[in-house]
Amino acid sequence: MSRDPKTLRSRTWFDSLEYYSFARRAYLRSEGLTRESFHGKPVIGICNSWSELNHCNIHLRTVAEAVKRGVWQAGGFPLEFPTISLGEVFMKPTTMLFRNLMAMDVEESIRANPLDGVVLLCGCDKTTPAQLMGAASADIPSIFVTGGPMLSGQYRGKEIGSGTDMRKLFDLYRTGELSEEGLMEVEACSARSNGHCMVMGTASTMASIVEALGMTLPGGAAIPAPDSRRLSFAEQCGRRIVDMVWEDLRPSHVMTRQALENAVTVDMAIGGSTNAVVHLLAIAGRLGIELTLEDFHNISKRTPFLANLRPSGAYLMEDFCYAGGIPAVMKQLLPLLHRESITVTGKSVAANVAESECFNEDVIRSFSTALAPEGGTLVLNGNLAPRGALIKHTAASPHLLQHRGPAYVFDNYYKMLEELNRDDLPVDENTVLVLKNGGPHGAPGFPEWGHIPMPKVLLKLGIKDCVRISDSRMSGTSFGAVVLHITPESAIGGPLAAVQTGDEIVLDCAARRIDVNLPQEEIERRLAAFVRPAPKYNRGYGKMFLDHVTQADLGCDFDFLRAVPCGTVTPE
Ligand code: FES
Repeated sequence: MSRDPKTLRSRTWFDSLEYYSFARRAYLRSEGLTRESFHGKPVIGICNSWSELNHCNIHLRTVAEAVKRGVWQAGGFPLEFPTISLGEVFMKPTTMLFRNLMAMDVEESIRANPLDGVVLLCGCDKTTPAQLMGAASADIPSIFVTGGPMLSGQYRGKEIGSGTDMRKLFDLYRTGELSEEGLMEVEACSARSNGHCMVMGTASTMASIVEALGMTLPGGAAIPAPDSRRLSFAEQCGRRIVDMVWEDLRPSHVMTRQALENAVTVDMAIGGSTNAVVHLLAIAGRLGIELTLEDFHNISKRTPFLANLRPSGAYLMEDFCYAGGIPAVMKQLLPLLHRESITVTGKSVAANVAESECFNEDVIRSFSTALAPEGGTLVLNGNLAPRGALIKHTAASPHLLQHRGPAYVFDNYYKMLEELNRDDLPVDENTVLVLKNGGPHGAPGFPEWGHIPMPKVLLKLGIKDCVRISDSRMSGTSFGAVVLHITPESAIGGPLAAVQTGDEIVLDCAARRIDVNLPQEEIERRLAAFVRPAPKYNRGYGKMFLDHVTQADLGCDFDFLRAVPCGTVTPE
């Protein structure tokens, strides 16, 4: 391994004969540094998504300090820098509208600056995929430190999980079974530490995927945010990135087609969030790797569901960490993984997990005690979803996986929320709730509207789940018989636009289909009369989003950000 400073990318900023090299060194000295701090050393950027507007990432300044310790120890020179941050529950209309903006910020901040390597600090749902996308496009040596999950929520002697249990308790409040005071008590104890949501929601899933891709050191995904081992881990990553620079180990060497398949396999085994699908498709697009929904289906078919975590299972991320975390899952999965894929350790997946152990076989199951023989996400087609749709069938009521019932259609999300509280809403347990205009163009921004709340009339009858379908997404913490990401979306004239209240909807998970029971000619007749809604943005970033966002089956990245640019796709 050469450690010749002449090979460093940063050298062209600091060590050329031009005036500006001298000026850059002089201005760097204004930070109070001696020449010995940086001369001839790899410059390591610490890309920090810390923000007080993003509570999940609020501890990342402390994590950055631990990374810096590691960088100094290994002979590097750390420089921390911010990018925009995407706080999942604060941002309106949805963080997904801004994932690509953050990815551009990350990519260009890396590219434009004198960095030889970068450590990326992330945690909340969209910050992780945005950084993965940006790092993939910038392609200099990169390692991730995810922020880790919160400690388990504690409510009256019971563990409660972010989103998942909060939604259940909120429904009890809607029906009057939980008082205002009770709700305030839940509010105070459900998010009781730093860190991201601690069920296997999108944040935990994406952290697990970072590890499965080989973009962080083994074991990093599940360590709780306040656990001291999170900082030790960050320090190790700081040390490792310096060697990665000398080895010139880049994202394109790690995030190969095989690594993406490993990530999909782990996603299926942990019952990961449906949002992981759209993010992985976007990351693959950045790398010029063809990954399709069919790949997800094929991998799901052969992958058992092993991680007993909410919302699909019983435990929380803290339990998962103590049980062995992702290394223990990957060790079980080795027969299904590309074992020789190289990771940021410089070693293979198989070598990384060789010594891993499972310490709780109820949390991390073996193949013989798997929770289900197949993975946690099912890819659907059918006349409503010619280019695909998803259902997290492991988090749905089993009796609804084969279902037919009349549609009750909502065109507008906010009006829908009002209607769902009506005591005279004409729905029953067979009704299929349909939401249009929730996709990338329609909402716009592809928000998490797909987990349509249960109508109050049904909750009062003790009915906790019904079939709900939309072209929208849902939070990874959500659950239920919810069909999502229907593509193409209704707002650009996808078949969902043709559905009317009273039409029969057929969900057939065994056949992987979501259909409206209408003759094709009738669907086409209705679509011929479809009028595309006026765009909601005519200027600024919103307009750029609408002009360039791709559909869910291409990851909703911008067409011009993919390694092989494509046109935005409208239905044939
Ligand atoms: Fe940030 Fe859930 S709100 S991960």
